[in-house]
Amino acid sequence: MNNEPSNENKIRLETIDLSVFYGQNPGVKNVSLQIFDKQVTAFIGPSGCGKTTFLRALNRMHDLTRGARVTGKALIDGTDIYDPKIDPVTIRRKIGMVFQKPTPFPTMSIYDNVVAGLKLVGIKNKSLLDEVCERSLRQSALWEEVKDRLKTPGGSLSGGQQQRLSIARALAVEPEVLLMDEPTSSLDPQSTNRIEELIGELKHQVTIIIVTHNMQQASRVSDNTAFFYIGNLIEFNKTTKIFTNPDQKRTEEYITGQFG
Ligand SMILES: Nc1ncnc2c1ncn2[C@@H]1O[C@H](COP(=O)(O)OP(=O)(O)O)[C@@H](O)[C@H]1O
Ligand SMILES: [Mg+2]
Repeated sequence: MNNEPSNENKIRLETIDLSVFYGQNPGVKNVSLQIFDKQVTAFIGPSGCGKTTFLRALNRMHDLTRGARVTGKALIDGTDIYDPKIDPVTIRRKIGMVFQKPTPFPTMSIYDNVVAGLKLVGIKNKSLLDEVCERSLRQSALWEEVKDRLKTPGGSLSGGQQQRLSIARALAVEPEVLLMDEPTSSLDPQSTNRIEELIGELKHQVTIIIVTHNMQQASRVSDNTAFFYIGNLIEFNKTTKIFTNPDQKRTEEYITGQFG
């Protein structure tokens, strides 16, 4: 019998007093949070409370937002994500992102959509690209549906398939963390189910953070939940605890639907 410690509580990502300002206005304030390895963490809270703002701070997406400024610390495996010596492109490979609306390049083939990130860094080896394409599409549960038409445009797929294609593209560069910002908000219930199942499968390989305004979704897919309200992290705990016996009154009011 081996005595290896369980990795259940291994910290993959951590923020310490992280704030994001848009000009003078804070989008989120002093958030200290730990994201555990190979678990699903949900960010919940009413519209405008800072979920997207905080999520984007985790892979330096605000570098691309004019007027946005990040203070405090964000660490991946103990390394400062905002260290000036670190290339933000490297960070975004380690910490991939899937957006609210599916983002395939509509006229580009399914195949090229998946391997776009690899081609961008100069990988041309066809058998390697083939391998990554198949692996990523299998991981995103799309392979069986598209394997016979990899050359057709990404835009020819249904919305739910396009979102799985976006996930395949994010997975192709083998990220350690996948950030998902309301990934099912534009999808029908059946496609939503499919993505939720997929999250359950993927979490064995990759650490997942999902922003959702759908509390049932958070309780179905996540291990841990962070509740945000007007730019503040109000409460962070195991999902079962947040949804059955939260510590904070605000959390309880939110999860019982007293405000939206
Ligand atoms: N690019 C931006 N410029 C200025 N303010 C922004 C920008 N993006 C978001 N905000 C503001 O930051 C706050 C948090 O927004 P956001 O993170 O989008 O919330 P959520 O994702 O929880 O709905 C809101 O007050 C919003 O208006
Ligand atoms: Mg948002």
